Amino acid sequence: MQKVYLDNSSTSFPKPPGVVDAVTEYLKDVGCNLNRSGFGVTCVLNKRTRETRTLLAELFNHPDFKEVVLTPSITTSLNYVIKGLFKRGDHILISSMEHNAVTRPLFQMRKKGVSFDFIPCDSAGRLDPDDIRPLVKPNTKALITLHGSNVCGTILPIRAMGAVAQECGLLFVVDTAQTAGVLPLDMVADHIDILCFTAHKGLLGPPGVGGLVISESLARRIEPLIAGGTGVFSEMDEMPDTLPMHFEAGTPNLMGYYGLRSSLRWIKRTGIERIHTHEMDLYEHFLAGMQQIPAVRILGTQDRATTLPVLAIDVPGRDIGKIAYRLDSFYKIITRCGLHCAPYANRTLGTYPQGTIRFSLGYYTKKSELDYTLRSLEEAIAHVK
Ligand SMILES: Cc1ncc(COP(=O)(O)O)c(C=O)c1O
Repeated sequence: MQKVYLDNSSTSFPKPPGVVDAVTEYLKDVGCNLNRSGFGVTCVLNKRTRETRTLLAELFNHPDFKEVVLTPSITTSLNYVIKGLFKRGDHILISSMEHNAVTRPLFQMRKKGVSFDFIPCDSAGRLDPDDIRPLVKPNTKALITLHGSNVCGTILPIRAMGAVAQECGLLFVVDTAQTAGVLPLDMVADHIDILCFTAHKGLLGPPGVGGLVISESLARRIEPLIAGGTGVFSEMDEMPDTLPMHFEAGTPNLMGYYGLRSSLRWIKRTGIERIHTHEMDLYEHFLAGMQQIPAVRILGTQDRATTLPVLAIDVPGRDIGKIAYRLDSFYKIITRCGLHCAPYANRTLGTYPQGTIRFSLGYYTKKSELDYTLRSLEEAIAHVK
């Protein structure tokens, strides 16, 4: 058996056909900079970048492609929002399943007088939208949540959460790191004011590209964290207040843009529905096998409608680090073990501080690989005391 890659929540692998060629095309045949001149090949580059934004706007049901801002990562996007939008005295609500990409910037902002509270989720990572209202204070400005947990795969009810945010006059910010390209997203129906995304997970593009989708009027309330050249409006001392330039200082990851455009086109051709059905069929097959292993405790909802194709386990009484190491070194099965950059999510699930072993499936995972993984896991558990 060749290596089995079950770490798609960290970054998806392999990428769909065409993505590697698109990255290479930029490096081999394009090689010029965005917005820095107006000739020949630069025009093609500008057009491709616009197409990338348009595909993203379509995917998230946002009316204006210019309001799709591209950044180096979703972590950068969340920092832009959290550090740029809130000030001393503001209060924010977040779910208790958040990634460090949300909690760490908030802890930094706490030193500057911004406060925040967790909306408690249950031990499967589920959030009840009715638990939000009692936590809203007169100074609460925003509700920030992830859409899907990177620790156990639980999907949060963002449409209902967005409705509560709207009713309470809160900005609704959604971290779609685990769900963009995996589940349907609709900024209008889900009441999302700011949608943060990354290219390298469910969008199946290369690492080094992320973004945020935001209205220009809201963006003008944010002082950009990074300032510098934009290729246009060079006479201005400040960053332009038009999008997407407002947040796009410096030469971007253009080969990443090419790769992302290619993966978005593949997702559009294939259809999210089809991708999702296939991944969830694989998940159910794997879940059924995992449920037969008595030593294992499975986390999350274990329910097709409310989980991503992510299966996280604990093996009570055993050192899961050693089990994951054995899976990797003896069986060439790549998983991820530990807290997955989300200590508060692990506290919620009762898996802090040891964390979990996470198997995250992708479109290219094979059933035979999952069967092999189940057999190998049983052997590894028997070996590790
Ligand atoms: C829910 C969630 N948010 C944010 C991130 C940060 O993503 P990146 O490291 O690509 O910026 C991750 C990465 O795993 C994640 O799962």
